[in-house]
Formats: sequence, C-alpha cells, structure tokens
Amino acid sequence: MAKITASVFTSHVPAIGAALDLGKSNDPYWQPLFKGYEYSRQWFNDNKPDVIFLVYNDHATAFSLEMIPTFAIGTAASYQPADEGWGPRPVPKVVGHPELAAHIAQSVIQDDFDLTIVNKMDVDHGLTVPLSLMCGQPGGEHPAWPCPVIPFAVNVVQYPVPSGQRCFNLGRAIRKAVESYDGDLKVQIWGTGGMSHQLQGARAGLINREFDNAFIDRLIADPAGQAAVPHIDYVREAGSEGIELVMWLIARGAMGDVAGGKPPIVKHRFYHVPASNTAVGHLILEN
Ligand code: DHB
Ligand code: FE
Repeated sequence: MAKITASVFTSHVPAIGAALDLGKSNDPYWQPLFKGYEYSRQWFNDNKPDVIFLVYNDHATAFSLEMIPTFAIGTAASYQPADEGWGPRPVPKVVGHPELAAHIAQSVIQDDFDLTIVNKMDVDHGLTVPLSLMCGQPGGEHPAWPCPVIPFAVNVVQYPVPSGQRCFNLGRAIRKAVESYDGDLKVQIWGTGGMSHQLQGARAGLINREFDNAFIDRLIADPAGQAAVPHIDYVREAGSEGIELVMWLIARGAMGDVAGGKPPIVKHRFYHVPASNTAVGHLILEN
C-alpha cells in the first residue's frame, strides 16, 4: 500500500529560482532566505519519498486564458521546465509517475472531484522553485531531480477560484486515493504558493505578517477551521495573490489526523520577508 509520509508547504517566488540559477544565493539579500531552507534540504535528503504529489499553480504559462482548468492532474511521463519569457530555467526535466497519477485520477474523480487530465504540459516556477528549495540545484553528480513528481495544478489566477473548503476536502480524497494504490510507495504531498503578496494595483507590495503567521498556526492546529475561511478574506488580508494559500489546504487535508489519526509532527517552520514582492512561508509536517 502507498502512504503519505509528510507534507511540505512553501512559497514559490520566481526570483528565488533566478537567484539560484544565477549563483546569487549568498548575496546579503538572499542569504537569510536560503538559510531558512538548510534544515529542509537535509530533512528531504534523510526522508526521500518515492513520489512527490506537488500542488502548485500555473501562472498563465501552460494554461492561458483560453483554457482554465480548476484542478488539473499531470499523468505524463515527463514535463519540461517552461519558458516564462526569458528562457526555461536551467533545471532538469521533471519525471512523472503515470501509474500513480492515473490511479489518483480514477479514485478522486469517482469521489466526485472533476479533475482535468493533462498528458502534456510544461511546468513553471510554481513547480520548479519549490523543488529547487527542497532538493537543491541538480547538476554535476546529480543531474536529475531526486524522485518522480506528479504535478497538480490549481487555478488561483482567474476567478472563480476554488474555495479553501473544497481544497481541503480534495486533500482528503487524494489521501484516500494514495492509500488505495497497490504498490509500496512513500508519497509526500507539497502545498505551494503564498504567502501574502499582491503584484499589481494600488495595494501592490502588500505584506501581512500577522495574517501569514496566524494562517500557519491554524493550518497546523485547526485546519478544518482554516478551510472555512472564504476567499475574500484571503484577498482582503493577504492581497490578490495571497489566494494562492488555498493550495496549502489541499496538502493539509491529506494528512493523517484529518482522517482520524494522530496530529502531525511539526518538523520545521520558517517565515521571511521579503523575497521579491512576497512574504515567504515554509512548513514541514510529518505523519
Ligand atoms: C512574485 C510572486 C509570485 O508568487 C509569483 O507567482 C510571481 C511573482 C513576486 O513576488 O515577484
Ligand atoms: Fe505565484
């Protein structure tokens, strides 16, 4: 049987990818940020999963305004890093896990969540920056990402976006799906995006430390309560792009306590302002 061993939550700021790709991670601006992920890279190395189920959002890269799936699961064998306007990031292709992805699609769709099946797409900073932060930059002796990844894209760009409640419930269905897979796999589920940020308009640059930290507190201790918060509260308090945080609720909904098990163990928690226009939040929970 496959099982979900841990969940990882992290922001995905594109400038973090650029800092890594251009060798700027020791610059005074970036150093405190990357220090917050030192533990995480060691933890990841010591707790390597067989597959990462990576919840992220596409930023009008693979999906334009011509086609906007609310939830899309990647069932392909591999995915290329996307060209977001200045060339693809110099990171390896992402290897998928078509068997597990197809099983999850089957189970979750039969559980009444309408997923879009994606057999071909490029993946943008929403997916590759969290991989870089947790796994380090591949290259040299380790030219590939350390394990297969199932990309799971959520629309948080074009309204209407899914509610926190629906995301949380979807996480529960994903857990059920993983646990019914006939194969001995350790699966991590990652929820990415956030924290507070607004990239345009009169409130551009908005950061709300209090909201962000209360969100993390509640995500740990009262995820069902956090799931009930309506999207307008995220937008008002955390900025228009703060809505990305609903993706964290998918990963949280897949943890054991939500299905009646013990509370997760908090392995690591980190918060840093600023990275580009964004507050960076990060959390690791183990089942
Ligand atoms: C920034 C943050 C994001 O989450 C994103 O998708 C794009 C840009 C930023 O802070 O610059
Ligand atoms: Fe984003």
